[in-house]
Amino acid sequence: MRADGQLEVHENRPGTGLPLVLLHGFPLDRRMWDDVVDLLPGDRPVLTVELPGLGRSPRGEDVAEALGTGPEPSLETSAAGVLGALRARGIDRAVIAGLSMGGYVAMAILEAAPDVVVGLALLDTRSGADASSARENRLRIADTVERTWTVDEVLDMRTALLGETSRQQRPDLVARLESWIRDQGPGGVAWSQRAMAARPDRTSVLRRFAGPSVVVVGEEDEITPPSAAEEMFDALSVRGESELVVVSRAGHMTTIERPEPVASALAELCLRAER
Ligand code: MLT
Repeated sequence: MRADGQLEVHENRPGTGLPLVLLHGFPLDRRMWDDVVDLLPGDRPVLTVELPGLGRSPRGEDVAEALGTGPEPSLETSAAGVLGALRARGIDRAVIAGLSMGGYVAMAILEAAPDVVVGLALLDTRSGADASSARENRLRIADTVERTWTVDEVLDMRTALLGETSRQQRPDLVARLESWIRDQGPGGVAWSQRAMAARPDRTSVLRRFAGPSVVVVGEEDEITPPSAAEEMFDALSVRGESELVVVSRAGHMTTIERPEPVASALAELCLRAER
């Protein structure tokens, strides 16, 4: 765990050209991208950044203090942390891809630093803010996780994140998700829930983006369903060129349920971004 407030960056492979930066979902870490990384063609650099309090990254409170972004948990702090980590590596332009919470952070990056985002991939996520009931539920979960100091309250996500097909046929994926969730610290889980609860609607940020993008969604995603993907695709198509990829037989975790179409979509986006 880093003590300097800098987010943990994993360079999956060195390379030349425009970097691809991958942001993970909740309550997970960079490992949810491993299957996709293994399938990505070409020799561009591929980096995964771990978000505050998850994986090997420092606590959200420490990231915020190092960046001076204020004490309240926020995805703006996560976005500033990712931008700082890229700057520290001399990266000022990249293709940014985020799944679910990683997508919320990618949209916050796009709002804060549009010049950095040369291409955007939004996977199994949504641009709208939470309804008040969802926000209250997140705050309740954050309080419980902190009070019990365990991640038990979010363990059900090992199945909820998957589509019906995977739930029936892929017990290995349930076991993988369970072990990844158990590896996360309660403090990071609580901080992330509070940060997600506070996020605004960023649909207008997508409408302003004139670059290339792709929206990927599992056909069986019950958390951020295909209708949410269509809304983002419509917004990204106002000024930019977007693609919508609906992945059959997959739920919210397209990167581990069906990594092949995800890798193809990202590879194609990178080619468009380089043109
Ligand atoms: C995720 O996969 O990151 C979460 O499901 C996001 C969320 O809770 O909105």
